[in-house]
Amino acid sequence: MLATLALAPHALLSQPLAVGRHAVPGQTRSAVLMAERTPLIAGNWKMNTDLASAVELAKAVADASAKATDVDVAVCVPAPFLIPVKEAIKDSKVGVGAQDCYFEDAGAYTGEISTSMLKSVGTDYVVTGHSERRAIFGDDDEAVNKKTLKVLAEGLKAILCIGELKEERESGETFNVCDTQLTKGLAGVSAEQMADVVIAYEPVWAIGTGLTATPAMAQETHAYIRSWFVDNYSQEVADKVVIQYGGSVKADNVDELMACPDIDGALVGGASLQADGFSRIINFEK
Ligand code: PGA
Repeated sequence: MLATLALAPHALLSQPLAVGRHAVPGQTRSAVLMAERTPLIAGNWKMNTDLASAVELAKAVADASAKATDVDVAVCVPAPFLIPVKEAIKDSKVGVGAQDCYFEDAGAYTGEISTSMLKSVGTDYVVTGHSERRAIFGDDDEAVNKKTLKVLAEGLKAILCIGELKEERESGETFNVCDTQLTKGLAGVSAEQMADVVIAYEPVWAIGTGLTATPAMAQETHAYIRSWFVDNYSQEVADKVVIQYGGSVKADNVDELMACPDIDGALVGGASLQADGFSRIINFEK
């Protein structure tokens, strides 16, 4: 299905996005204030690496981050490697993230990992609502919301992932999908707590497929997402929220994506597993 897309990625460009109940500003006020937001480049290693390669990669990221200015960097690693990765990056500015969590405190939840466990091993970020969790493991918006609230209550930072499926983009539902996922995913999250929330806009059709939204497509949706925060929180929250783009970000497309006024970083899957490529992504052109 996605192979067909790969043959005709530009077909997507001709699909107008449905404008939901929010207007889409061409250039938001936030664009002017972009300099106030520190971009976050985060690697999402998914279910890859082993102990030795995880530590080696973490050290390489730490080295690469040393020369990167005005950017926050994190690696979201498999749970067994949180402690050794934390140790490997301890003298650097790199943060360490988990890829998921459970929303209960403790108890008979075989296989699950609590936020207090994550905090106790020095985790900084927790990814919630990644499309693979939604699609493969059945995380619905309610579960994503509970996890996000729990991460914030624990004093950790949440990277909340949202994004539309290929068919949703093609039927003009992109903004409506983002609206629903933001409304439900952030239910009960206060304006103060938004300081600890990063949004990752990841069009599902662009994840792991080699297809990237063009900068114009990504910027259009990022501007919509920022306008959503104006409408649902405040201009101040909208100006401050870091909105990452994710979906086949690589060394050779990061610069043009990061040049967009409402793109404040990247959540990087496949390309975060190669030290050289990820180093280049961290050191994107300013
Ligand atoms: P990708 O993954 O960079 O391999 O497309 C991104 C993600 O799933 O966060």
